[in-house]
Amino acid sequence: MPQLNVALVGLGFGSAFVPIYQKHPDVGRLVLCDANPARLRDLQTRFGVKHAVATLEEVLADPAIDAVHLNTGIPDHARHTIAALHAGKHVACTVPMATSLADLRAIIAACHSSGKNYMMMETQLYAREFLYAAELHARGFFGQLQFLSGAHFQDMENWAPYWAGLPPMWYATHAVAPCLALANTRARSVRCLGSGGMRAELKRPHANPFPMETAIFDLERDEPLAMEITRALFHSARGYSESFSIYGEDATFEAAQVHGEPPVMFKLSKLGAHPGARTTTDERVYVPDYADRLPPEIREFTGAVKLDARGAHPSVQHGGGHGGSHPHLVHEFVRSIVENRPPAIDELKAADWCAPGICAHESALQGGAVVEVPSFA
Ligand SMILES: NC(=O)c1ccc[n+]([C@@H]2O[C@H](COP(=O)([O-])OP(=O)(O)OC[C@H]3O[C@@H](n4cnc5c(N)ncnc54)[C@H](O)[C@@H]3O)[C@@H](O)[C@H]2O)c1
Repeated sequence: MPQLNVALVGLGFGSAFVPIYQKHPDVGRLVLCDANPARLRDLQTRFGVKHAVATLEEVLADPAIDAVHLNTGIPDHARHTIAALHAGKHVACTVPMATSLADLRAIIAACHSSGKNYMMMETQLYAREFLYAAELHARGFFGQLQFLSGAHFQDMENWAPYWAGLPPMWYATHAVAPCLALANTRARSVRCLGSGGMRAELKRPHANPFPMETAIFDLERDEPLAMEITRALFHSARGYSESFSIYGEDATFEAAQVHGEPPVMFKLSKLGAHPGARTTTDERVYVPDYADRLPPEIREFTGAVKLDARGAHPSVQHGGGHGGSHPHLVHEFVRSIVENRPPAIDELKAADWCAPGICAHESALQGGAVVEVPSFA
């Protein structure tokens, strides 16, 4: 297959992906697109990109463009995704896929009718902490999974206007996705409580009274498995963190409390033949980088840093956006098209990771009532 022509639409967060597409060996022409002329010009100049347009419509009307990576604002994700699929483009879209069950279904329908690939660009699924935990889990390291938890704390006041008052659970995928992916299942039902209070102006845009929401999900499995997710967006004095913890029968991986610190691994000793308490050990773990899974041209974008002679701890030195996930996301999206196969986070998986948060907010509005989460498989 010849190289792909890709349009990157929305160049705030989207700007992080410019040099990765430029260097990806399967990408030919990169087109930048942003309705903000200053932003567009700045990115074009900074990275020396030849092609640039101001509107998504121009991108969709260009038959030479094979794929579109959307990093536009949350309220536009569904509309832009559906328009791009209908225009015959493969689509990658930043999270969340959509913020209503109806829009999740509409995107799935557009994927089926267009036959094009859709990928939700969930950064946590390629963050090195997740890749490490998934590798251990595949080897049976944790034993049976007993409980999962995830959290995403981030103050989002004074960001782009569409963030104002957003129901916290509508943007919960960074906490939900790693847990569901690890357990290889979906959420069946949820009970969620809204918590705290916030200014009236933040309540208005979405009729959402909650700055924080906390939920317990029942996961689809033969034996019970629960997942607890907490999400804070406003009026909460807690530093940024996106985290997941896996509580296993033999070992537990617990996210660091403070962003940037190494996570903690707990291990339970074997059950002895004689009476006596079992012991647990705990240690901060070095999480390796997974740049070697990528083509050499884009490995630098995980932010992996070589140890210097003094041997400073690499987990502190790692850089790269969102746990080094950006080049992995680009690579998976591009290769899924080249290899004519569904991407790792296709429309069904993405819907299974967004619906829990949408249903959780519904439960919170009903005072914690049980809400069934639909299945999309
Ligand atoms: N970890 C992550 O996965 C992560 C991190 C940050 C942001 N995001 C997501 O990225 C998205 C963008 O975030 P942001 O902070 O950059 O937002 P932003 O509002 O600053 O940027 C969006 C850009 O899209 C452009 N745009 C919107 N509609 C357009 C159109 N029709 N044609 C051309 N350009 C258009 C705007 O001009 C703007 O520059 C959000 O949806 C957010 O959820 C994800």
